[in-house]
Amino acid sequence: MKPTNPPKTYRVKSFGCQMNVYDGERMGELLTEKGLSPAPEGEDADLVVLNTCHIREKAAEKIYSDIGRLTKGKTQKKAPMIAVAGCVAQAEGEEIMTRAPAVSMVVGPQAYHRLPEMLDKAVKGERATDTDMPAIAKFDSLPQRKRRSPTAFLTVQEGCDKFCTYCVVPYTRGAEISRPFNDLVDEARKLIEVGAREITLLGQNVNAWSGEDTKGHKVGLAGLIHALAKLDGIERIRYTTSHPNDMDDALIAAHGEVEQLMPYLHLPVQSGNDRVLKAMNRSHTAESYLRLLERFREVRPDIALSGDFIVGFPGESEAEFEDTLSLVDEVRYAQAYSFKYSPRPGTPAATMDNAIATEVMDDRLQRLQARLNRDQIAFNEASVGKTCEVLVERKGKLPGQWLGKSPWLQSVWFEGEAEIGEMVRTALIEGRGSSMQGRLLDRV
Ligand code: 5AD
Ligand code: SF4
Repeated sequence: MKPTNPPKTYRVKSFGCQMNVYDGERMGELLTEKGLSPAPEGEDADLVVLNTCHIREKAAEKIYSDIGRLTKGKTQKKAPMIAVAGCVAQAEGEEIMTRAPAVSMVVGPQAYHRLPEMLDKAVKGERATDTDMPAIAKFDSLPQRKRRSPTAFLTVQEGCDKFCTYCVVPYTRGAEISRPFNDLVDEARKLIEVGAREITLLGQNVNAWSGEDTKGHKVGLAGLIHALAKLDGIERIRYTTSHPNDMDDALIAAHGEVEQLMPYLHLPVQSGNDRVLKAMNRSHTAESYLRLLERFREVRPDIALSGDFIVGFPGESEAEFEDTLSLVDEVRYAQAYSFKYSPRPGTPAATMDNAIATEVMDDRLQRLQARLNRDQIAFNEASVGKTCEVLVERKGKLPGQWLGKSPWLQSVWFEGEAEIGEMVRTALIEGRGSSMQGRLLDRV
């Protein structure tokens, strides 16, 4: 590669999960500290960071077409310097360097704090790869939070030791690690100082978080949530994504005790059939999952439930798939994410026999999504007539329209006088598919 002038502007494009969104923000902060500025919308960036997702094949392949479009001038007029970050970088770093000569930097999710040094090398014309995995070091060397936003993500835990047989996360994000209690309380305080009113605690297995509080007592996620709820100015707390096996009594109880903890739970189940769950190495059953949800509903009857599903896992029979539909009928999710099984290289399921034909997967996904949509609409319709607080996140399409979230994570739009970052009280007047219309009552 030829030496180039140092880039002045950057753009980070994050794909996939919320953890990537968080990492993307932090990479942006690092680059800003290095003296670059974010490229204004619609304008070319000198450096583009593709923060990639490896969870399904489609997501992973996308990066090569993105690189192609950037180098051929289809995304912006001038080809930028390109960095590939995220889980594809971790899993396929070498391959990217060979397959895509236009890429200057490849940086894994646990190494992106070294992006500024890599950039210095890239300017000299040296291509650089860093896919080391010392997770804690990364957080220690990231700059202070500066972004002004009413909602913020805070990564509390990373990695996964569960090894579900279909999943690449244990390989790309590494073993489970928890960030220390004090670091998290400090970062939350800073986020509030710069305008956050809602904080979402993030982790691949967020409820596996554990640490020691200021008195040296061992605490789980519930302990952290109780401590954060005491911070001045924090109005909403959420957490995602949880694993059924890491749920403890204290976290369930917290939903009845902590006013700021929002009535929403994302708890992936993947399948409603015990044989499939076993083959997936989920180590819970459909029944134990359902019982767990009941306990949440006991302490917080209005809790909105969300889940993840995979259809067409190797060997899944029609009857086994129908068990998933039955589970959905029983839970009545407010929201859900469903996917066709995608074999990922290096995972145990990728070499399993009895792959399910694409047409069968398509059909199952369609049937599952029809039910999940039905339940989302029903949940939203059942919310009509409720009064709730909405945290205003952005302007709507038309002048005088605003968009925010209800406590149950529904997108709510309303008209009237408001400001971004404000909490308003609205009456929910109409369910519109995946979102709600509200009527502004007062500004609180
Ligand atoms: N194929 C399809 N879906 C997957 N997920 C994870 N790995 C795969 C895979 N190989 C889904 C799971 C998980 C969500 C983040 O992505 O449902 O909960
Ligand atoms: Fe992947 Fe399973 Fe870990 Fe979730 S719990 S990240 S699905 S291995």
